[in-house]
Amino acid sequence: MPESASSRPTVLLLNGPNLNLLGERDPAQYGATTLADVEKRVTDLGAKLGVSVECAQSNHEGVLVDHIHRARLLDGIVLNPGAFAHYSIALRDAIDAVDTPCVEVHISNVYAREPFRHTSVTAPVVQGYIAGCGVAGYELGLRAVLHRIEEARS
Ligand code: DQA
Repeated sequence: MPESASSRPTVLLLNGPNLNLLGERDPAQYGATTLADVEKRVTDLGAKLGVSVECAQSNHEGVLVDHIHRARLLDGIVLNPGAFAHYSIALRDAIDAVDTPCVEVHISNVYAREPFRHTSVTAPVVQGYIAGCGVAGYELGLRAVLHRIEEARS
């Protein structure tokens, strides 16, 4: 059981490849909000909801796997795997290997985009999935993972 299980939950907000460029990358698709702004918004919401939020981003598959393994000591994960959602079996297996509830977030509606984005290898192993809500999806993701954490504690 995670150390924090009896008290204030801690959630990892984890972003995958290219999401460090939020705000400048394809704003028509992803909006003008930067990753730093997203992290602040989610951290602030966490403070209101009584959740500590740890933020991380990597462009590297193995580093993301390491973060997911580390989240065994935490209570929840809000994950935007970026393009890895569409083909990374390593990421899928990492999510599946840990008991920590994970909610997957995509800023864009991947199902309204190119066919290669319609495949998700991670979606079958997460406890919630949010797509197409813009960057507000991250805040919804935090609320959704908190719901899963509370459900597991009751
Ligand atoms: C994304 C969707 C992915 O298809 C894409 O590769 C991304 C961003 C999203 O948040 O909408 O990098 O995960």
